[in-house]
Amino acid sequence: MDVLLLGASGRIGHRIANELLDRGHAVTGVSRSGEVDGVDDPDFEAVAGDATDADRIADLAAGRDAVASALGPSEDETVDALVSMAEAVVGGMREAGVDRLVWTGGAGGLEVAPGTRLVDTEEFPDEWEPVARAAIDAFEVFREADDIRWSYVAPAALIEPGERTGEYRTAEGELVADEDGDSYISMEDFAIAFVDELESGDAVHTYLGTGY
Ligand SMILES: NC(=O)c1ccc[n+]([C@@H]2O[C@H](COP(=O)([O-])OP(=O)(O)OC[C@H]3O[C@@H](n4cnc5c(N)ncnc54)[C@H](OP(=O)(O)O)[C@@H]3O)[C@@H](O)[C@H]2O)c1
Repeated sequence: MDVLLLGASGRIGHRIANELLDRGHAVTGVSRSGEVDGVDDPDFEAVAGDATDADRIADLAAGRDAVASALGPSEDETVDALVSMAEAVVGGMREAGVDRLVWTGGAGGLEVAPGTRLVDTEEFPDEWEPVARAAIDAFEVFREADDIRWSYVAPAALIEPGERTGEYRTAEGELVADEDGDSYISMEDFAIAFVDELESGDAVHTYLGTGY
């Protein structure tokens, strides 16, 4: 596939770039500066682009098979930038006539029990709440975009650099936790889950939880 990867310079994004490239896909990786560290492959091109600019997204997405995102609000932006980016990505994809999107979402909107979302639990850390709620608002943008074949793939509650084991589980709309109740996934295994979904399209129009 020829994939436009937004947020390729991020912690999760550059791992998704490497997972895509290892599987033989061609990747154009976007960051605001046009610099992407940690990715070195003849099938990779780094380009500059602002993901809040729908026209720029349209220019970059035109003719490609899919758009992938590991976008997150940077420290110099408010968390609402995530919603502006979601709107611009949908608008830009429509303009370009590209209809497949896989988005790195947040775990906050996943259910821990019927009717109870992770973000609404007492244990959810206060400092993560604004970005978790912005990620849920971004999900609402996609929910209204039936013409886009989007998949919203969320990490476990905790995601960190770690091992690439190839093992993971998924659940539609639910937080994935182990038998001790811990919800974790390494960034490397999340990248596998993300690219598996991009290739398979098994979870189109789905909020997918991932974890061990
Ligand atoms: N447990 C969870 O639910 C959980 C945990 C961690 C992360 N996440 C989510 O996963 C996503 C990625 O996380 P991360 O830790 O990899 O983030 P990160 O390292 O901060 O990377 C964010 C990426 O977004 C890009 N970006 C930001 N604003 C942009 C703009 N206006 N135009 C173009 N690119 C822009 C950055 O590029 P430049 O700054 O280089 O331009 C960077 O590549 C986030 O949405 C985050 O909320 C969820």
